Amino acid sequence: EVKSKADYDTWLGERKEEAAKLKELTSKEWTLDELEARGDKVYHTTCVACHQAEGQGSPPTFPALKGSKIATGPAKDHLSIVYHGKPGTAMAAFGKQPSEVDIAAVVTYERNAWGNNKGDMVTPKDVLALTHAQSQSRPSLPMP
Ligand code: HEC
Repeated sequence: EVKSKADYDTWLGERKEEAAKLKELTSKEWTLDELEARGDKVYHTTCVACHQAEGQGSPPTFPALKGSKIATGPAKDHLSIVYHGKPGTAMAAFGKQPSEVDIAAVVTYERNAWGNNKGDMVTPKDVLALTHAQSQSRPSLPMP
């Protein structure tokens, strides 16, 4: 089947986009500024409804992230709650949704926004490591 030039251009555009995404995830060396800028967007799309624009939340229902123990504590625990959520609460497991890069970015943003000023970052590779750990711990099928 002969494809039109327009179809080909679309196809090529999609492949280029996929390649760029893969690079962002696996090999790009992110800076704190880049992650924060991206995380700012993710936060204001995905988290702001509950945690509010200045990270102040709506206590007691939705906790503040500004100055919160988790958002200013160890990065590992902060990433963990965003990735796994908190079962039985409105805090959903974001896992790979929207994407590993976005999860890394939004956690980095929260750690540095609103005076949290941790100066550290969570990278897409840290999120990938969690995904990997999870697939490793999946119980294997019983052998017949
Ligand atoms: C539908 C509402 C809702 C949305 C949307 C939401 N959260 Fe939450 N979040 C909660 C609730 C409720 C808790 C408290 C859970 C508990 O009881 O410990 C929470 C807790 C947290 C905590 C722990 C805060 C602390 O110090 O205890 C972090 C960090 C967090 N959320 C990050 C995020 C991020 C990042 C996003 C967006 C990707 C997000 N949340 C989106 C409702 C939400």
